[in-house]
Amino acid sequence: MVAVHVLGPDELRAANRLFAATIHQDAVPDPDWDRAALSYSPGRTLGVTEGRELVGTATSFPTRTAVPGGAALDTAAVTRVGVRPDRTRRGVLSTMMRTLLDDTAARGEPLASLRASEARIYGRFGYGVASRGREVAVSGTGKGWRRAPAGSVRVVVGDDVLPTLTALHDALALRRPGGITRPEPWWWRPVGQRVAKGEHVVVAVHTGPDGDDGFAVASPTGPGSFSHRTLRVSDLHADGVDAVAGLWAFLTGIDLVDRVEGWLRPVDEPLELLLADPRDCVVAGFEDETWLRLVDVPAALAARSWGAGPSVLVGVHDRLLPANDGVYRIGDGTAERVRAEPELECDVDALAMAYLGDRAPSLLAATGWWRVHDAGAPARADALFASGRSPWCGTYF
Ligand SMILES: CC(C)(COP(=O)(O)OP(=O)(O)OC[C@H]1O[C@@H](n2cnc3c(N)ncnc32)[C@H](O)[C@@H]1OP(=O)(O)O)[C@@H](O)C(=O)NCCC(=O)NCCS
Repeated sequence: MVAVHVLGPDELRAANRLFAATIHQDAVPDPDWDRAALSYSPGRTLGVTEGRELVGTATSFPTRTAVPGGAALDTAAVTRVGVRPDRTRRGVLSTMMRTLLDDTAARGEPLASLRASEARIYGRFGYGVASRGREVAVSGTGKGWRRAPAGSVRVVVGDDVLPTLTALHDALALRRPGGITRPEPWWWRPVGQRVAKGEHVVVAVHTGPDGDDGFAVASPTGPGSFSHRTLRVSDLHADGVDAVAGLWAFLTGIDLVDRVEGWLRPVDEPLELLLADPRDCVVAGFEDETWLRLVDVPAALAARSWGAGPSVLVGVHDRLLPANDGVYRIGDGTAERVRAEPELECDVDALAMAYLGDRAPSLLAATGWWRVHDAGAPARADALFASGRSPWCGTYF
């Protein structure tokens, strides 16, 4: 018999082993487990068992997501989802996703968010791509930057790294729609553990006129050679163009570095505009970043700001959480459920694609994601949903 339950602390090790195997990674070694266990938030890990065997797991941790206008909404950050390969395509994930959505709604978290290993998994559960990132590479041996950097950059090492970055990150991230807060345990694997083990990680902090306003974490990657290294940026948050310019110019200017790469960088990071030769920045591709699930549609719509212009009536359908079904009038800076015929209609996953401002409703309508009942509605919706800035998170989980 197949059953889903919330795992207790002594079941997390097995869940972690199972998940690691599903993404073809080694299990956490014994000496590291106590620290790794802290990254599981109590009471938020599901296990599916068949008899006495664990065959599926998924977990979430609490965070907050910035939405247009600056509010930060409680969010379940869903992660470590895996089903044992001999038990896939039998509904194990579907069972966990339904339970997870019900638990998230019961906790009063209006949003759930995840990063998808494959793009065809999560749409059916109401998740839509709400932010994207791009893979970039900047040549450090090119023609340099158009202007001298403003501000200064310092390198942070050893025991100062975690306190410095944790103090900076959340405020920087929440300035942009899609940014999330990072709970303290998040920092261990990508930063704390690496520094503690003595791995070579470049950690740089930018200081502008009002104090520290950006940081970068990067490490050597790829073949390269002794004097032609490539640095890969794993984390870079910056408030304003001067901080972005200062950090990228610093990294590309480090001795023996030829090239600096970044993955899932904001699509509007203006590297080409800052470089003396815009072709010194090569964009290798774009990828989906945030898969967002509006768990409480009325609360999520009420929390974000809206653009100016005449109102629009949007009908929303939610197969898994029918409490979200209804027609929402968006306009005059608010959104509320009304009794009216919709001018536009969408499923909840397609609503998420516009919610943070990533995709314009007219484009979603033209590509079949939204349905149009009033020819003037897409343009009105575009003006209302526009947020003025590309959403971006910058935290992988
Ligand atoms: C992805 C994964 C969790 C799916 O689990 P699962 O138990 O097989 O999923 P379900 O049986 O509940 O699938 C539900 C539906 O999604 C579809 N689906 C599931 N995984 C899919 C995939 N990778 N690609 C396309 N469709 C997929 C199923 O075919 C099924 O469709 P149907 O309802 O039309 O029959 C599992 O395959 C896995 O562990 N993969 C490796 C680890 C991984 O990628 N984890 C996700 C990290 S974000």
